[in-house]
Amino acid sequence: MKKMGKLTAAFLAMSMCASFTACGGSSGGSTAAPATTDAAPAAASSDASAGGKTVGIAMPTKSLERWNRDGEYLKNEFEAAGYKVELKYSDNDTNQQNNDIQGMIADKVDLLLIAAIDGSTLSQTLNEAKSANIPVIAYDRLIMDTDAVSYYVSFDNYTVGKLQGEFVEKQLDLANTDKTYNIEFTAGDPADNNAGYFFNGAFDTLKPYIDSGKLVIPSGKSTFEQVATPSWSTDTALENMQNTLASYYSDGTILDVALCSNDSTALGVAQAITSDYNGGNAPIVTGQDGDIANLRNIVDGIQTMTVYKNVSDEAGVTLEVSKAILSGKTPDKSFADGLSVQCSYDTESYNNNVKTVPSFLLVPYVITKDSLQTLVDTGLYKWDADNKYLESTAATT
Ligand code: BGC
Repeated sequence: MKKMGKLTAAFLAMSMCASFTACGGSSGGSTAAPATTDAAPAAASSDASAGGKTVGIAMPTKSLERWNRDGEYLKNEFEAAGYKVELKYSDNDTNQQNNDIQGMIADKVDLLLIAAIDGSTLSQTLNEAKSANIPVIAYDRLIMDTDAVSYYVSFDNYTVGKLQGEFVEKQLDLANTDKTYNIEFTAGDPADNNAGYFFNGAFDTLKPYIDSGKLVIPSGKSTFEQVATPSWSTDTALENMQNTLASYYSDGTILDVALCSNDSTALGVAQAITSDYNGGNAPIVTGQDGDIANLRNIVDGIQTMTVYKNVSDEAGVTLEVSKAILSGKTPDKSFADGLSVQCSYDTESYNNNVKTVPSFLLVPYVITKDSLQTLVDTGLYKWDADNKYLESTAATT
């Protein structure tokens, strides 16, 4: 049995999550959940540093399922480790997020964890954090245009898109087929630095087939800007897909793939396909996050896959990095190698226009209808009473 940190153990007891795995230092994603090994975590969770310290957590919005999940996990984990937590959701409003963070600075929090709404709107506020000597961790989304951010904890964002592209490549056997297929892309919020990585990971993987004509984009929308979805809005994704279907598919053209960067957009796209597409086939629809409604669609055959990013791993690594910072350490590669979760330490990929932010990157993996049990095995999901759909084991999602 592998050893685990106090916090993880505490959280395990609470939510039965058992997802920390030994670190291999790899940054590649996979189509299966990372395997558990027996290696012991070097970064143990003993936490003398917590006493009386407060962590300010700024989440973007409650309107997208994943941030409720992340906010709750982070709060639970930090509190279980002995920290006080100030948690704010800013309603996808950048002014409100600035105000919320300024409030936390005024409250003299000891550390800020921020999932930015718009990565480039926080520079001024973070100058104030820097002046007050409050370290900042960019959570999941990189914070741009500031030197006040110490670390970035996220998943390998490019790999998320790559896994989606590779899934399509495999499903359609693009390397070997002589057939041609039609594809449309739906990407994320241009204000979110992650969105371009997701799109590029998928597009780069499929580009050789687009170039050779095996994959055709009937709408011609092939750039991130043309397919971006502000605020990752389900309604906007729905509307955009309805327009695309009306303009390019109403003559009976077949849609084979709707490559969506995440689950909130996939939800809208799948809805548009259900209501406005008459091709008779079920297009491949990709996603990311493992949101409950999307897992339902996967069971019902309306969505085909989602790329899963384990929230308890991301929250757990964030906690370990935070603890290290708060006890005066400088977490680096050997720290990452010692963590009880698979992640890489990257000092090259994430430049925020002012500095290259040292990053701890976790490993995403693909979930399909056949591998839903893998999610149950994390302890974060459970089967419903009919053993048909998945539900969350967490209180708020
Ligand atoms: C996250 C995704 C999420 C999206 C919308 C991104 O920054 O990495 O997991 O689907 O925001 O909430």
